[in-house]
Amino acid sequence: MGDILLYIHLALAVLLFALILFNRVKQFRSIAVTASSLLLLTGAHNFMTRMADAPKGWHAFVGIKLLLALHVIAIVFLIARGATAEKEARWRKSILITGTLVMLIGLYYSNFAR
Ligand code: HEM
Repeated sequence: MGDILLYIHLALAVLLFALILFNRVKQFRSIAVTASSLLLLTGAHNFMTRMADAPKGWHAFVGIKLLLALHVIAIVFLIARGATAEKEARWRKSILITGTLVMLIGLYYSNFAR
């Protein structure tokens, strides 16, 4: 169950990151908002289950990942709602940076740290 949810989390993360990367959040806003909400739910589950045999540094880095992920999700909601083109471009740039960090920390702890 845990592994399946981790893969679902990964698929949702790749989907959301692709929407941000190719500037398609507004075009597919319901997909972006649904993926963000499911990332929050599956992420909360991963957080509770993968804490058990946490490797060194897990709590610090996954804690930072959680905060950065919340930033990504909040900005995706704001872009989906819509703002001026200048604001949307600035917001998108910021979540390209935080989103990349979130992906890297998640992938590292899921695939290389254990
Ligand atoms: C923008 C939203 C998010 C993105 C892009 C993202 C991305 C990822 C990625 C790519 C992985 C690795 C999955 C794998 O290799 O199978 C991962 C794992 C994980 N994510 Fe997320 N995530 C997001 C939101 C969240 C949230 C909100 C939480 C916590 C509530 C969370 C907690 C975790 C945990 C605990 C892991 C597993 C780490 C481990 O294996 O020890 N994620 N995430």
